[in-house]
Amino acid sequence: MSDLSRCDAIGSLALSIPAAATIPAAASAQTAAISITPAFGGEHPSQPLGFDTTKLAGLSEELVRSHRENNHQGSVKALNMVEGRLAAAMTDKDLPPVIYGDLKRDELQRTGSAILLELYFEQLGGDGQAKGAIRDALTRSHGSFETWEAEFRRTAMALAGGSGWCILAWNQYTKSLHNYWAWGHTNGPVAGTPCLVLDMYEHAFAIDYGAAAAKYVEAFMHNIHWAVVDARYRAAIMG
Ligand SMILES: [Fe+2]
Repeated sequence: MSDLSRCDAIGSLALSIPAAATIPAAASAQTAAISITPAFGGEHPSQPLGFDTTKLAGLSEELVRSHRENNHQGSVKALNMVEGRLAAAMTDKDLPPVIYGDLKRDELQRTGSAILLELYFEQLGGDGQAKGAIRDALTRSHGSFETWEAEFRRTAMALAGGSGWCILAWNQYTKSLHNYWAWGHTNGPVAGTPCLVLDMYEHAFAIDYGAAAAKYVEAFMHNIHWAVVDARYRAAIMG
């Protein structure tokens, strides 16, 4: 089968919606009511922390503050700045595509960094005791909760000495919970909604643990706010 006919075949399978189909009025009104952030508004906020930075087990206030102020808030600020520059660039018809491409690359990297760090800090401040629908789902998907946890830790440690994110995600396409290895801010799983994210860049732990990544992973696991993870999972499966 030629590439062209193969595409046609796939298209005929996936696109079973009649050409004359219309969007129901109720659905149209519902989507119109959703607040949509302007594409290049440059006003993304960083949410306040939901925990006391002096109370995390095994993660010092100095470490958390440095990570928060230098990396998280720095990424949000950079993303907002890039959006402003993209808006300005769109008014310059003589701007070379390669220069616009540099801005788009930065936009993707800063978006990934800002969102992953927002999720990272949002899920801290708990007692590390897994509960809720997410625990049941991880038990079913991996055979036991302990098996899932062992694989999550192993995936995280595969990034030690380098950089990246270990991401437990609900994959909307495969309908599965999966621990993903992401070696940068832009390598998240396709169709994956993050439920639990572990920052494995050295700046996330070097102040407290030097290069001893395993000790950081251990401390991280004790601070997970599983109610937050559970809420993300339940929202994700509702799609
Ligand atoms: Fe980080």
